[in-house]
Amino acid sequence: MPGHKENSGAFLGDVLKYDITEIDGMDNLHDASGVILESERFAADLYGSEETHFLINGSTVGILSSILALTKPGDEILIARNCHKSVYNAVMVGRLKCRYVYPAVIDRYGLCGGIENAAFREALKEYPGIRVAVITSPTYDGIASDISALAKEAHEHGVMLIVDAAHGAHFGFSKGFPGSAVKNGADIVINSVHKTLTAPTQTALIHINGPHVDREAVGRMLRIYQSSSPSYLLMAGIDDCMSLIAGRGKELFKQFLENIGEFETKAGRLKNLKYIGRNELIKECGVFDADPCKVIISTAGTGYTGRELYDELRNTYHIEPEMAAGTYCLLIMTIMDEKADFDRVAYAVECIDEKFSDRKAAERYKDLMPAFSAGRPVQVMQAYEVAGADRHYVNIKDAQGMISVDYIMNYPPGIPLLVPGERIDPGLIDKILKDIDSGINVMGITKNKEAAVYG
Ligand SMILES: Cc1ncc(COP(=O)(O)O)c(C=O)c1O
Repeated sequence: MPGHKENSGAFLGDVLKYDITEIDGMDNLHDASGVILESERFAADLYGSEETHFLINGSTVGILSSILALTKPGDEILIARNCHKSVYNAVMVGRLKCRYVYPAVIDRYGLCGGIENAAFREALKEYPGIRVAVITSPTYDGIASDISALAKEAHEHGVMLIVDAAHGAHFGFSKGFPGSAVKNGADIVINSVHKTLTAPTQTALIHINGPHVDREAVGRMLRIYQSSSPSYLLMAGIDDCMSLIAGRGKELFKQFLENIGEFETKAGRLKNLKYIGRNELIKECGVFDADPCKVIISTAGTGYTGRELYDELRNTYHIEPEMAAGTYCLLIMTIMDEKADFDRVAYAVECIDEKFSDRKAAERYKDLMPAFSAGRPVQVMQAYEVAGADRHYVNIKDAQGMISVDYIMNYPPGIPLLVPGERIDPGLIDKILKDIDSGINVMGITKNKEAAVYG
């Protein structure tokens, strides 16, 4: 193996030359002692971590493995309600009793904020049986929580803190970005290196620090949940990315910050749309910190939706945004974008700003709602209790009071609006219908607008 024998046919060219397997001298990801261990140690040094492992099944596998390593069935776990679906999947597979801490909501822009220290402390007090907490920082939108304070709080309560930092692999490498969760006391930190850094899709890192985590148990879970044929192309991609950051990171981040600074100046001239940059988020919206790689353009008050802005950028200006939400569109700019790319985005946004100036339109979609603004869903059963239950389908309009057996979520970002076992309330129905109406992708609702319900 591999069966291609380095002979790619037409499509992949020379790439498959590097697609080897665990032949002598090439080490084994599942029991690294040679070249892979060396590369992992290089990454650990770069991040200032005691222990770092390469992941070839994305942050998803780091999240699954760490949660399942630190818990046993029936345990309680505290998770931020805006966690990614991989956290929910781990909770379901692990048959865990799930308790939530909710993020702040920035109503004005329809954005989820960070996890506030007081809310986290309250949740830990309310559920004294909890030994593991998981939060997402930064969020898909780039909002970072105060990991240092949350880790301190967690440890005072005898709780281990796992930080899903899938979107924060570049944090801590320059003062222009939020600090790294690795250096701020989290027990486990998971970074995708394919999202905001330069490694190929599906690559990620898991960092383990401090005395609390059973590291052997994490290793066991990684051996269960990762492929038994880890891709050397992916691992080489991670290694390459680490070398790039170690060698040229300073210069690339500096250039990025200059580019985004210039973009911010231009975006400051927008009259209808609004660029919600790091300064605005910290000073005006009260978030702890925010990632300048996430370019959030708000359509709030214009009468246009995030989806319409997204479509305009894509169809007219051939710019591929990352995500459309109700009242904003998100772009990810990285160290691999050049000045010309920033200029193109600025130009497109300025042109669309003119186009979206129609005051008469402002009455449209006035009441698009951010996630969780419709109230907090009531948890009637744990997700694992309804996972295999009988289901039937009901039009979402008629589903009030019923219990969902599926996740209902906007994708992206893949954060469940409703979790299996939760009650479908009128506020949520309203939000789902408005989202569908405004062109936002809602997973867990059929094309006929039906939801799967319990019983
Ligand atoms: C917040 C968050 N966590 C985890 C993941 C999973 O990461 P990966 O795609 O590397 O498995 C994602 C993916 O989008 C995410 O947005």
